[in-house]
Amino acid sequence: MSLDIKTLANRYNTPLYVYDFDKITKQYEELKGAFNGKKSLVAYAVKSNSNLAVIRHLAKLGAGADCVSIGEVQRALKAGVSKYKIIFSGVGKKDDEIRQALQAGILLINLESEAEMKRVEMIAKSLNIQARISIRVNPDVDPKTHRYISTGLHENKFGVSIQSAKRMYIYAKKSEYLNSIGIHFHIGSQLTQLAPIQEACAIVADLVRSLQALDIKIKFFDIGGGLGVTYNDEIMITPEAYAHAITQTIKGLDVTILLEPGRYLMANSGIFLTKVLYEKKNGTKRFVIVDGAMNDLLRPSLYNAYHKIEAIQKEGETTLADVVGPVCESGDFLGKDVPLPMMEHNDILVVQSAGAYGFTMSSNYNTRGRSAEVAILDGKDYLIRQRESFEDLIRLEEACDTSWQG
Ligand code: LLP
Repeated sequence: MSLDIKTLANRYNTPLYVYDFDKITKQYEELKGAFNGKKSLVAYAVKSNSNLAVIRHLAKLGAGADCVSIGEVQRALKAGVSKYKIIFSGVGKKDDEIRQALQAGILLINLESEAEMKRVEMIAKSLNIQARISIRVNPDVDPKTHRYISTGLHENKFGVSIQSAKRMYIYAKKSEYLNSIGIHFHIGSQLTQLAPIQEACAIVADLVRSLQALDIKIKFFDIGGGLGVTYNDEIMITPEAYAHAITQTIKGLDVTILLEPGRYLMANSGIFLTKVLYEKKNGTKRFVIVDGAMNDLLRPSLYNAYHKIEAIQKEGETTLADVVGPVCESGDFLGKDVPLPMMEHNDILVVQSAGAYGFTMSSNYNTRGRSAEVAILDGKDYLIRQRESFEDLIRLEEACDTSWQG
């Protein structure tokens, strides 16, 4: 990102999300390139950063979209993702969402239970169309990641067991309204070890082979997302090692590989800028109070996640400080024990690796308007989401009749 951070913070004010679109391109091309020579589609996990400009940028590069609500499907369509590249997943889809997804004619609806399959069949029948489906298998593999973002164990709510999946495929084969062309697994997020991915992949590939024997042909092999990134000192799985492990494991299967990366594309393509309000000490404990808070970037509070925090253009001896926001919760912090020089009003802090699950998990808690978002492409900056105003926050309340309160 060649633009000066200070200029951006002053031009757009803070708190502010800034995304490096050239970096997004680089990440996309590295991952897609690693699967070169194989039939593959990168379906971007929209939940990680659903700004329309981000989705549009990835769509132009050829990406599809992995969506978990009809809202995300609508975003993807609006941003120009081809309907044939859109997947709709999620453990609890409402009838209306299923209907809209079927009517939109997207590539796949990903089923997460037998009950859901029956529901999709019924809705497809009412529309007199055949639903293209895949089934999310829970391979019961420990992904070795934070337990809040682990999804591939039977104790997690996601997917169905191998046995149930097999039953579901056999049922679907007989149904006039279901066309089971895909299989899916996703064992967790921020994965830094290859072995669990490979293990899950092998289990699911075996299932595909046994389905072939039943004349059930799987065309799309969806390996989910989950590729980890470096926040601190984690060693990343390289795209090449990832691609190699997957392609070796599914050797002999004639399938298109679907990938659903979110964090890998976005986390280190974005930063969060916040300005210092005050310094204070409670006893010996030092706090740097900033204008960004847990409502803007929830990951530290929710997962105790580490994000590197750096002061811009500040020299001097550093001591440890907690970087905290103005929200009325003790859990409102962006960083703990961060080495920082003495800070002054309006000094800028950069919170690194904030491009994924940053803005999308933000809220209006404490009636705080959500941050603005800016894209940098080719050294130029573009506003891609306006800062929320007070009027934005109360609009839906103001739209209601208040006469009953006199
Ligand atoms: N596919 C499925 C089915 C998923 O559930 C997820 C993420 C992804 C793809 C994308 O995973 P990624 O490539 O980004 O790891 N809020 C948490 C992360 C939750 C991830 C949920 N599922 C965080 O901030 O760490």
